[in-house]
Amino acid sequence: MRNFRYYLPASDIIFGSGSLNSVGVEAKRFGKKALLVTGKSSMKRLGFLEKCVDFLKKEGLEVEHYGEVISNPTVDIVNRGARIAIEKNCDVIIGFGGGSAIDTAKNIAVVAGHFEGKDISIWEFSGAVENPRPITSKTLPVIAITSTSGTGSHVSRFAVVTNEKTREKMGILSLFICPKVSIVDIDIISCMPPSLTSKTGFDVMAHLTECLVSRRSNPITDFYCLKGVELVLEYLPRAYRNGEDLEARENMAIADTLAGWALVTSRPCLPHAMSHPVSAFYPEVDHGEALAALTCECMRFNIERGDEETVRKYCEIARIGGKNINSFTKEEALKSIDVIKELLEKIDLNVRLRDFGVKEEDFEGMVRSAFSTMRGPIEANPVDVSDRDIIELYKKSM
Ligand code: NZQ
Ligand code: MN
Repeated sequence: MRNFRYYLPASDIIFGSGSLNSVGVEAKRFGKKALLVTGKSSMKRLGFLEKCVDFLKKEGLEVEHYGEVISNPTVDIVNRGARIAIEKNCDVIIGFGGGSAIDTAKNIAVVAGHFEGKDISIWEFSGAVENPRPITSKTLPVIAITSTSGTGSHVSRFAVVTNEKTREKMGILSLFICPKVSIVDIDIISCMPPSLTSKTGFDVMAHLTECLVSRRSNPITDFYCLKGVELVLEYLPRAYRNGEDLEARENMAIADTLAGWALVTSRPCLPHAMSHPVSAFYPEVDHGEALAALTCECMRFNIERGDEETVRKYCEIARIGGKNINSFTKEEALKSIDVIKELLEKIDLNVRLRDFGVKEEDFEGMVRSAFSTMRGPIEANPVDVSDRDIIELYKKSM
């Protein structure tokens, strides 16, 4: 066993049907004025935005609403939100929605917390710049209310943002942005339509399988990952077929949380490293569908070149997926790809990059973007990867 370091940030998770109603009591612990960060329509259309505001006001909080977040949120969206938080003197930032809203809330908390009278941008804190500004305890407290089961953002120390100008999509990383409180209300999550359920659900599967084989994995995250894979295989197809299957929704939310915890000390690897440039170059491509197009080829690459431990871990995935595994060989490990393909079939997400209009002429630029923004995941891959390997894998995923 390798030596390892393990820790979990203290997110207080409030889980279950109706848990949204605790938001006021929780937010009150952090101050009097909240910035509520959401996407443009879903939470309002479903009536949850109004409820959330009511719960906050009932506890005496003043609420500013910033409802401009889009999928694959940009630097500009973060900076505009931060300006509101600064002008209105907000004490706590509440991210309410999918990963995009929660990530934007976390990033706003960084910018607003470090404001010292001179305009600053979230990009200054990103690893893409030389000498990034350190993220400190000045970061404002964040509360996450997750409406998807996908990114693990409600318990993770990452917040993703896209720089449209440089076409770089990257994770801001700090323990200080981890939500202090995380509300997982199944009534909200159950409103996801089938296509969103499948894309976000596959993101969970990608986190689990990648963190399992990652060079940064440890025996504790391995437990989360193996259990999570079992939950996703059983419950994602059910949640996809019937969004009102609450048992399936609950178990997907647990799997999302386990994956988020795995992400804290382990790391995703090649599929994530390759998926971010896809969305940076083609912003209409959602994170989960990019992963769906890339995962199987990356798994084949890792199995073919992987060491004994990597092969054994892919065999474990195959076994959880019901395959008969007689020995830990590369041939047997390839059965894990069948497990993923069968899952993708069941959730109608058997997609290829060409389905999204991705063009080969962008591959060189996408590889550069991967190496500048996703070096962590590339280095965490169990097998060494070169820029030529990544181009080959993009081609095979077309
Ligand atoms: O924008 P609104 O109108 O709110 O609608 C959203 C959006 O259109 C809608 N939606 C969300 N919850 C819903 C719902 N519609 C009906 N019912 C609900 N319950 O769904 C659309 C997609 O939302 P989004 O937040 O973009 O999805 P997701 O949760 O998949 O988040 C994706 C973002 O998170 C990043 C991704 O890269 C992407 O930017 N990630 C964040 C990570 C992290 N912070 O640790 C790790 C991940 O690997 C990932 O990179
Ligand atoms: Mn992801």
